[in-house]
Amino acid sequence: MTEMNSHWMPFTPNRAFKEAPRMFERAEGNYMITSDGKKVLDTTAGLWCMNAGHGRKEVADAVHEQMMTLDYAPGFNFGHPKAFEFANRLVDIAPEGIDHVFFTNSGSESVDTAIKMVLNYWNTMGKTSKRRFIAREKAYHGINIGGTSLAGLPANRKGYPSVMPVDFIQHTLDIENNAFSKGLPEHGADKADEVERLVALHGADTIAAVIVEPVVGAGGMIPPPKGYLQRLRDICTKHDILLIFDEVITGFGRTGYPFASQAFGVTPDLMTSAKGITGGMVPMGAVFVSGKMYSDVMANAAPGVEFYHGYTYSGHPIACAAGIAVLDIYEKEGLLTRASGEIGEYWQEALHSLADLDVVVDVRNFGLLGAIEFKADPEAPAGVAPKLFQPLYDAGMMARPIGNCIAMSPPLGITKEEIDFAVATIRDVVTKVFS
Ligand SMILES: Cc1ncc(COP(=O)(O)O)c(C=O)c1O
Repeated sequence: MTEMNSHWMPFTPNRAFKEAPRMFERAEGNYMITSDGKKVLDTTAGLWCMNAGHGRKEVADAVHEQMMTLDYAPGFNFGHPKAFEFANRLVDIAPEGIDHVFFTNSGSESVDTAIKMVLNYWNTMGKTSKRRFIAREKAYHGINIGGTSLAGLPANRKGYPSVMPVDFIQHTLDIENNAFSKGLPEHGADKADEVERLVALHGADTIAAVIVEPVVGAGGMIPPPKGYLQRLRDICTKHDILLIFDEVITGFGRTGYPFASQAFGVTPDLMTSAKGITGGMVPMGAVFVSGKMYSDVMANAAPGVEFYHGYTYSGHPIACAAGIAVLDIYEKEGLLTRASGEIGEYWQEALHSLADLDVVVDVRNFGLLGAIEFKADPEAPAGVAPKLFQPLYDAGMMARPIGNCIAMSPPLGITKEEIDFAVATIRDVVTKVFS
C-alpha cells in the first residue's frame, strides 16, 4: 500500500485512520468500491454532494471537451461563454427574484463570499453600522474564517477568534416535543422570535444579516419547524436585515425542489451553494443574490469595481462545463424534484419503520435527507453514533455519525431496493451494536 504519512487528512483522526484505513478505489452509480473490491452503498452521497451519483460519462465528456477547448480563462476583466451560460442556467432554476450568481470554489468560500457581499452591500448603501451577523446554534457554515465565526458547533469554533460580531439564536431541535415528526415538525416556529430579542438588544441599525441552513445538515439533519423560516423572513424584512440561506447541502434537489427556499416558499436575499452544483464531481460553489441587492450595488457603487472580491478560479471553465452537464442530467432524469415524489415518501416510511427499535428516540426526514437519533449514553459524551460508523461500513453502507444520530443524504437517484438495503442494514447493525 502507498505510504500514508504525508497526507494530513481533513476532519479525520489521522493517527487512528492510518492504523486502519478505509480506502476507496472506484465509484459507480450509487456505490463506492473499496480497494479490496467491496461495494459500499453511498448513502451519504459522499459528503452530501454526489446528487447525480457516480461515474457520469456525460460529465466526463463535457470536462474533457472543455479542457481541450479552453482550459482556463482569467475571470477578472475577462470572460468566457461557459460562465455566463452556466449562470443563466442556474438563475433559471433559482427562486423568483434571485437572479444573479457569483462563482466560488466551495461551500466555505460561498459563505465567506456572502459575508463580504453583505458587508459590501451595507457599505455601498451608506449603512456602515450594519456589521453584526446572527447565526444559530448547531450551524455549520464551512471552515473558512468567516464561516468558522458563524459556526454553532462548539468543536468547530472553539479556539478560533471571531472575525466579526456574531450572535446566536437557539437551534430548533426539540426531541421532547417533535420526536418522530414526518417532514416538518409542528413545534418551534416561535424560536425565530429570538431575532427580535437581538434587535432590541443591539439595534437593527447594527445588524447586517441573519444566516441559517434551511434544513440543518452537519448539526444533525434538523428540518425547520412549520412556519419558522417565514417568521425569520418577516422579522428580517421588518428590520431591513438581510437573510442568507446556506443551501450548500439543501440546494440542487436535496429537498425535492431545486432549492429548499422553494420547498418552503420563503425567499432569502442570498443563498450560498456548492456540492450538488456540479454533482460533487468538480469543486465549485456559487452565491445566489437577489436582483434588488445586485441592482442597488450597481446603482450606488462608486465607478470601477463594485465588489473587491473574487477567486483565481471563480467561474472556472472546467467547473462550468461540468455544472452545465450535471444540470442537463438533473433535468433529463427529473432529479431536482424526485425527492418530493414517491421516492421521498418511500424514504420517509422506510426510515420511520426503525422507530420500533428501543434505542431509537427520534427519526427525522425531509426530501432525501434523514437522521436516526439514538438514546444518549452518559459514558459516551461525544455521542453514541460513532460506534455505528465502522459496523455500518463493514455491512456495506455509509452513514454519517453526528453525536447521537446518524445522518443520511443518498444520491437523488437512489432506488427503493437500495433504501430497503440501507434500512435493513441499520436495523441489523443497531441491534447488534446496542444490544
Ligand atoms: C451548510 C454548509 N455550508 C457550508 C459548507 C462548506 O462547504 P465546503 O466543504 O464545500 O467548503 C458545508 C459543508 O458541508 C455545509 O454543509
